[in-house]
Amino acid sequence: MSKIIAGFSKFTKEEKIDWLTKNYFHNQTETVNIIKQYWNIDTDLQGLHDDFIENTISNFYMPYGVAPNFMINDREYVIPMVVEESSVVAAASLVGKFWSTRGGFKTKVIGTTKIGQVHFMYAGDKQDLESYFNQNKTELFAATASITKNMEKRGGGILSINLVDKTAKLANYYQLHITFETKDSMGANFINSCLEAIAKKFENDDIEIVMSILSNYVPECLVRAEVSCKIEELGGENSQKFAEKFYQAVKIAEIEPYRAVTHNKGIMNGIDAVVLATGNDFRAIEAGAHAYASRSGQYTSLSHCSIDDGIFKFWIEIPLALGTVGGLTALHPMAKLSLEMLQKPSARTLMQIIAAAGLAQNFAALRALTTKGIQHGHMKMHLQNILNQFEANEEEKEIITAYFEKRTVSHSAVVEKLNSLRKPITNWINFLDENSVRTHLSKLNINSKPNFGLMNAQQMIEHLSAVTQIANGNWVVNTFVSDEKTARRKPFLNTENELQTGFKASFLAEEPNELKFSSIAEAIDDLIKQVAIFVKVFSDDTNRTVVHPFFGELDFEDWQKFQVKHFTHHFKQFGLV
Ligand code: MEV
Repeated sequence: MSKIIAGFSKFTKEEKIDWLTKNYFHNQTETVNIIKQYWNIDTDLQGLHDDFIENTISNFYMPYGVAPNFMINDREYVIPMVVEESSVVAAASLVGKFWSTRGGFKTKVIGTTKIGQVHFMYAGDKQDLESYFNQNKTELFAATASITKNMEKRGGGILSINLVDKTAKLANYYQLHITFETKDSMGANFINSCLEAIAKKFENDDIEIVMSILSNYVPECLVRAEVSCKIEELGGENSQKFAEKFYQAVKIAEIEPYRAVTHNKGIMNGIDAVVLATGNDFRAIEAGAHAYASRSGQYTSLSHCSIDDGIFKFWIEIPLALGTVGGLTALHPMAKLSLEMLQKPSARTLMQIIAAAGLAQNFAALRALTTKGIQHGHMKMHLQNILNQFEANEEEKEIITAYFEKRTVSHSAVVEKLNSLRKPITNWINFLDENSVRTHLSKLNINSKPNFGLMNAQQMIEHLSAVTQIANGNWVVNTFVSDEKTARRKPFLNTENELQTGFKASFLAEEPNELKFSSIAEAIDDLIKQVAIFVKVFSDDTNRTVVHPFFGELDFEDWQKFQVKHFTHHFKQFGLV
């Protein structure tokens, strides 16, 4: 049956969820629960969020973190960041603090001009078009009077309107290229409204308007942020070497587009997080930043570095079209809160804060990459995600975080550690303690059933005895274990891990051996006897080693470790431990 639906947007929220979960999910109840779990209990607040977009069915959480200790133009800031990548806020905080004791970030706005264009087609004489434009230019400004009135009161408005001939690239294509100052608002609505009013005024029988829209490429809405200090103030083991490697890393990003993209992605980790936290449009910022990075015709680094006269300098220039009034900044309570945290900045100040956050993030990434490598810190942060994924409790988190303080974090290492914590404690069998062995085995009788495997109780005891006889030299098993295999397998004997259920050594027959003794009691006596021999043969010759058919050549100590695991494994097989 077709799942194309008409009038979906007219459904109530409940109806939308009902239709969606019925048609696209296996477990409708569970899905509905998840969707509703993320609803805000404050219905007014939820209503506010519902209305941001169409067809809202729930909310999608992102962590909201803060990076303290930023010193920007001698003013202290705590920077709000909305981001899901685990190491971003930690890195920003570290770097904010680092530079706060080295003069902080120095920033300045280079320009705040924004751009919009009316794209149109005109097939007539170019000079006629130019005269028409020049004659009507004042009218074009006037056409936006009602829209620009308030903006002009705030010092903004339309700065210029120019006619641009693009026919060399596309037949009959011209533009009105219009520049704007939008002060503290991002200005998208203002610009687009002005453009549409201008286009309407400008069009005539010969001019066909194709579209009127702002440009997210704003190379003149530009901000610079910089940090600098004497090389020796960079600290670390060898600050000169660090500065030079760092410089090389930036140079590589300047000339190598593959690297430049990742380098700039690191910058955008910081920028987007603050852009989101302040309710600004991160897609516009992304698009504009990457276009600016390609302005020479080759994609390159947004940041730069110099080392001159013993001074390390690192800076960024990036276009940032931002707002601190209007749009989501006024509507989203968390965006408002972010702006208050930033001491109610103007759009110009916000540009500078965000550029500093981007530079800080870039510094953190390059510092890690050129020293310890990125995974070290990244995985440390990722550790918490892995622990959450496996629903670690607070105690487990504490133990594992402490354990990995000085160790390399990897997904498998964390899981292994977690498993080892969760594993029920093994009651290892002391096979040398005759009383303990007899007490355990006394629970067996001919009806005892194994938890796994084919052996009956007596066969199991005789099997333990037989393997002990390999060590004793009474049973020679023809197996060859290469040095490489021994080296790989033997370390297992030093772990807390048990022999795996279902493991079967290749020298053993598929079916259990025929019984050697007439009763379980006799088999137990024999096992005790073989263990006594085991101790004797190794005490008589302290240098004795015997090849174990799986682990290779083992001395007394290793054989004991194996025996403990082997006895425990088979005692467990019959539920004796
Ligand atoms: C990861 O999100 C960002 C980095 O890859 C940036 C970089 O390589 O410079 C670490």
